[in-house]
This record gives sequence, structure tokens and C-alpha cells, in this order.
Amino acid sequence: MTTPVAIDFKELELDPIAAAEGQIVVFLKGEGGLDQAGRRVNRHMKGALARFAESDSFEKMKQGDVKSFAFPTGLAADAVLVVKLDRNAKIDVARKAGAALGKLHNDTPMLVLAGPSPRAAEISYGLALRAYDFDPHKTGDKDGRGVVTFMVSKPEEVAAKAAPMAAVAEGVFFTRDLVNEPANVLTTSDFAARLAAMQELGLDVEILEEAELEELGMRTLLCVGQGSESPSKVVVMKWNGGGDEKPFALVGKGVVFDTGGISLKPAGGMEDMTMDMGGAGVVSGVMRTLALRKAKANVVGIVGLVENMPDGKATRPGDVVKSMKGDTIEIINTDAEGRLVLADCLWYAQERFEPTGVINLATLTGAIIIGLGHDNAGVFSNDDTLCGNFLKAAGNEGEGAWRMPMGASYDKQLKSRIADMKNVGTRAAGSITAAQFLQRFVKDDMPWIHLDIAGTASVKAETDLAPAGATGWGVMALDRLIRDTYEAETE
Ligand code: BES
Ligand code: MN
Ligand code: ZN
Repeated sequence: MTTPVAIDFKELELDPIAAAEGQIVVFLKGEGGLDQAGRRVNRHMKGALARFAESDSFEKMKQGDVKSFAFPTGLAADAVLVVKLDRNAKIDVARKAGAALGKLHNDTPMLVLAGPSPRAAEISYGLALRAYDFDPHKTGDKDGRGVVTFMVSKPEEVAAKAAPMAAVAEGVFFTRDLVNEPANVLTTSDFAARLAAMQELGLDVEILEEAELEELGMRTLLCVGQGSESPSKVVVMKWNGGGDEKPFALVGKGVVFDTGGISLKPAGGMEDMTMDMGGAGVVSGVMRTLALRKAKANVVGIVGLVENMPDGKATRPGDVVKSMKGDTIEIINTDAEGRLVLADCLWYAQERFEPTGVINLATLTGAIIIGLGHDNAGVFSNDDTLCGNFLKAAGNEGEGAWRMPMGASYDKQLKSRIADMKNVGTRAAGSITAAQFLQRFVKDDMPWIHLDIAGTASVKAETDLAPAGATGWGVMALDRLIRDTYEAETE
């Protein structure tokens, strides 16, 4: 696993500044005022910081921007990083400022002179999220990770505020590691083993093997993995922090690699299908966070782990399979496999746990990328209250999410000549017909959301809080939803 950056909170001391090695971070308010630490750094730098604070170049900086001064006179440090940030900056601006520091973080120590800043915890959170780097497969010289020390006025208070944020960051890192990992390393068995290891954190983890899945009648899930050497598995993770209440359920698509099966995908870009387990990755990351911060809620996470390969034993276009629910499906296209995995997992989640609501996540359709790009995940729901709560949580966490329409007119596309339904519609509204397919496996009164994260799970260009590659999109929003909606009463 990628080691996250080590962050420490200490009492502000002005003496070690001149001798501090690595990078020193100081904050300047919008109008260029120097705080106590800033004045001290300025004195060592013979007034250079004060000159900068009055310059045009400082004025042109936006809130949260960072400027680096290399090898400053009067200091042992390699660089002074000046952050423009008002004391009461908005939380997302403070996070982004932290992320800008995280991007500049290297193998030397970083001393952050946050002093009495009420945003120190948020800055440390953004820093950690952006300092993430996936490098287990790089040999030779790797960038190390220097320790980051925050000097603040009330270290215990800041550390207590930062602890639950660090738990979320660790969940995000767990998701990113899973999603970044190539498919020859992260097989279904390796994935399940990483989840089983989370029992140490107090999660209850159960692994259902093919024989049990067969017995449960989960044929639509099994038919996806039947061309692969890797065994299909369903992993059930339970966090019981909320007494006797019925749990909330999270369900994730975990296709460790999607070749398309017999409906083989074209070669160009197929390597990206190593992240087709992104939904399962997010569910796993959220469960890790809930355990780390000992959430006062009952949540069950269910992931369907399969590999979609072409083979003599693989499912063919035209085959008809029976789902755990009992409905039959004509498989027109073996590349529309995610919905087959989710159909059985959704049904299993409802039958076994009678949850108060279900959210499923999946890198389900290329069409959602055409529609919403990499900025927003597609949100499909049968319940305005749950959906509203989710959109609010995502908005508060800065994770893009956009509600899409559903309805009977779209559902018509799934009519099959020989079975209860087929697994694809036409090209029109491909993301919506995928959602309609899933809804057929959601019970009538069950509050449900489907999140199509094909565009947001991983990106080619860095985002504010993540380098290129896996983002961990959704971990923050779902953790926030659980905190605000299901833990609120128990506090
Ligand atoms: N895993 C893909 C969706 C996907 C595409 C994720 C691009 C991330 C980036 C999914 O299994 C798939 O192949 N969907 C098909 C559905 C079609 C056959 C109806 C698609 O989107 O082309
Ligand atoms: Mn596919
Ligand atoms: Zn897929």
C-alpha cells in the first residue's frame, strides 16, 4: 500500500525556524499582513517577505495560491513557500491551499507555520490528499516522503479536528490504491484478501466463493466471470457502530478487468479497463473510513468481484441467464457486464439485510463520460429525499454529482423477444437504460441511488485534490452522507 504522508501537530516555536531544513510554509493574509511567524521569517530573510507582501505579484495571487522562494538568505531551508490565505478562508479554499502544498511536498521535511489559523486541520487534509503518489511499481530512485510538521497554537485541538479527516483520507488512499493497481496484481483473489485484512480494523468481512454464489442463484454475476481464470467472489463487509438498527447498504461493481468478453472491446485504451472495479474500490474505501473513525452507524458494503474475459467457457451474445431475483436476461452484449454483476448484488443486499436504503456505485457506461465528462458523476434515483441528501453531501465535499432522469419510456428499450429483458438498449441514452436495468432489481419501496462513476473514478489530468489516475471520488461524499444523515441523531 502507498504510505500516506506523515503529519504532526506541535506547539508554535519560533526558535527552530532559522535552522529548519527542507521547506518552510508561511501564510499571508489577502491584504498582505504578516503574522507572528511571518514576521520572524521576514526578519531572518532581511525583509524580503514584507517586500513580497507589498508587491504586485502578491496582489495577483488568488486565495489558496502558493509561491515558492528557493534557497532564501538567512534560513537553512531549501525553500520558503508563501501561501495567500485569509484566516477565515472558506473550507474548500483552505483544502485547495493544502493541496497546493501537497503537490510541492518532497522527500525533505516540511514545516508549516500555521499558528492560530482556524483552518489548520483543513489545510493538513488537503495536503495529505494531494501528496498521494502511487509508486509501488517504480523501481530505482523513488521520491521519498518527508515528515510534515504543523506548528499551531493549540496542537491538541487541531489534531482532534484533523483525526476524522485523516480517517477519510486513508479511505480515499485505500480506494485509489485499489483502482490504480493493475489487473495482473489486483486479481479477484488479491482484492478479496485486501478486504479480509480490514478485519483488523473491526470490520466483519465475509467472502462468498463461487459454489455459494451458485447456490444463491447469482447466475448473472457468475456468467460475467466464467471466461476468466480468476474465481468470481462477492465480499460482504459489515460495520456495526449503530446498535440494532437496520443497516444502510453500499454495493459496488468490481470488474477487475473488462475486455468486453466475447463482445471484445477495441485495443485502443483497453488498458484503462483495469479501473473497472472503481465502484467496489469506493465501497471498500468508505468501509475503511467508517471503521477508522468508529462511525456510529450500521453500514454493509457488498462488492461483486469478477473478471470479464473472452474464452471457450465465456458467456456468448444471445445467451439467456437467470438472476437471483428469478428474472431472465438475454445477453445481447457481453460488454454490458457491470449491470449483470450489480443486479445480483443488489438483490442479495436487499434480501439478506433489508437495508434502509441502497447506493450502488459503478464505472458503468462510457456514455456518462460523453454526457458529463470527468467533472460530475451521474446520479440516478427513485427517492427524492435520499437523492437530495446525497447531492448535498457531495456538494459540501466538492465532489461533482449531477442527477439524471429516469422513466418508463427509457425502460421500454430493455424488452426482449425471448426473455424477461435484455441487457442493453439502443445507443440512445445508454447511461439511463443501464440505470433502468438496475432499477428492475431494486424493490419498490427501497430508497436507492445508482452512481455512474465511469468519468470520475479516474482521470488523465490532475484534479484539485488528486494527481492523475484514481481519484477516490465518492468516498468523501458517502462518508459525509452517513455522518450527516445516519449518525446525526445519535450524537
Ligand atoms: N466498463 C465499461 C464502461 C466504461 C467505459 C468505464 C469507459 C470507464 C470508461 C462498461 O462495462 C461497458 O463496457 N459499457 C458499455 C455498455 C454498452 C455495451 C451498452 C459502454 O459504455 O460502451
Ligand atoms: Mn464492459
Ligand atoms: Zn465494465
